[in-house]
Amino acid sequence: MQKFDRREALKMMGTGAVVAVSGANFACESSSHVQSGGTPQPVAFNTPPDRAQRMAWWHQARFGMFIHFGLYSVLGRHEWAMEEEGIPVLEYMKLDKKFKPKPHFAEAWAKLAKQAGMKYMVMTTKHHEGFCNFATDLTTYCAPKQGPGRDLVKSYVEAARAEGMRVGFYYSLMDWHHPDGARCATDPAARKRFVAYTHGLIRELVSNYGKIDVLWYDVAWPLDARGWESEKMNRMVFNHQPEIIVNNRNKLPGDFSTPEQHVGGPLAKGDTRGWETCMTINDSWGFNKGDDDWKYPKTIVRDLIHCSQGGGNYLLNIGPLGDGSVPEPEVHVLTAVGKWMEKHGSTIYGSDVCRVTNSTYAGFTRKGNTLYMHVYYWPGEYVAIGGLKTKVKSARMLTTGQNVKFEQTEFQAKFTGLPQRAPDELATVLEIECDSEPIQDTLWVREDRPRDGV
Ligand code: GLC
Repeated sequence: MQKFDRREALKMMGTGAVVAVSGANFACESSSHVQSGGTPQPVAFNTPPDRAQRMAWWHQARFGMFIHFGLYSVLGRHEWAMEEEGIPVLEYMKLDKKFKPKPHFAEAWAKLAKQAGMKYMVMTTKHHEGFCNFATDLTTYCAPKQGPGRDLVKSYVEAARAEGMRVGFYYSLMDWHHPDGARCATDPAARKRFVAYTHGLIRELVSNYGKIDVLWYDVAWPLDARGWESEKMNRMVFNHQPEIIVNNRNKLPGDFSTPEQHVGGPLAKGDTRGWETCMTINDSWGFNKGDDDWKYPKTIVRDLIHCSQGGGNYLLNIGPLGDGSVPEPEVHVLTAVGKWMEKHGSTIYGSDVCRVTNSTYAGFTRKGNTLYMHVYYWPGEYVAIGGLKTKVKSARMLTTGQNVKFEQTEFQAKFTGLPQRAPDELATVLEIECDSEPIQDTLWVREDRPRDGV
């Protein structure tokens, strides 16, 4: 059987598709935004000098909420269903009739985020399906002009701000709906039109909603940075939002990198960008009714600790239903994580990169000379750290407030007299005051550990 790729189908549809999707009209931006005079030249992206300042709140925040919301939320078969199931554009478009977010959908998200200890939110304004959740003059395929009958991004922005959340926009460059979305790769006129359309939509997003804190590009297929005119795209964004931070998925390095579905690690020496792990609570970003592979709250807390350990952020996703309600298992996980954060959030927010890393039952975070040992697999009685190259001055259990006794040799720091059962089953935290920045050297322990004979 011939393998039939939806992207190929889009390409093959060619100009006819303009008529086929006439339910949604596309307008191009005025030519002033299209590079005139032929092929755009690659220009080195000048790192804005104030990156550290722009990103200060983000490093402090550590924990954010990702929200995948679109027509796929109605279908409930994952946000890639349109492509993976080869759903025709005209059929897919009809989903908008059932896309009816309830009146205060976004308030509930923002409250949930706050209660979970998150400090910012990033919502899909347009996913690969091409449907714009916001008001735009450039297409009729958008929430105010279709089923929802209102600007969902506006509701989101207002709700997020009301809860004190920083506001982020996700935007997918790849577009399965727009007739130029695939053929822009091979047809120069289509590329020009589609790049103007894309820059135009992004301009609306960064112009119409006040201060936006994060722009989260996604999937640059089928163009590269040159094809998307990404330098120009970022410049336009920074012109409108001088304090914004942008990610790396428009094929430029941006302000932060985006490891997906795994915990990242510190970037190369000299790289001043940040990094943010994005993660699903089950295995899907968009609502997928059959996906029951829910992560445990403990797994989420552990990931968050590991991100903070490496100086990174954790962007945890929810995939609401078409009415905006959040699946119960996601509420359960976020509520449990929130309870843990209430007591232990101070060990996460604004933490520094931590060079104590090795334990089979704990993760570590650090603030200055204070080391936090997050014991997620509680062994009872005592815990120990090998190769800690600093002097421990004092220790207490942050979870209970109790002081903790300790013994330290050159090879091992041992914290004793601990209860048999974990005081917090997600992760019990020991706050360990050290003489200098805590550093661990386990190789040195392996080489020099005292031994008899042999
Ligand atoms: C991938 C997926 C997309 C999802 C994104 C989140 O790029 O294609 O569906 O939105 O990851 O990072």
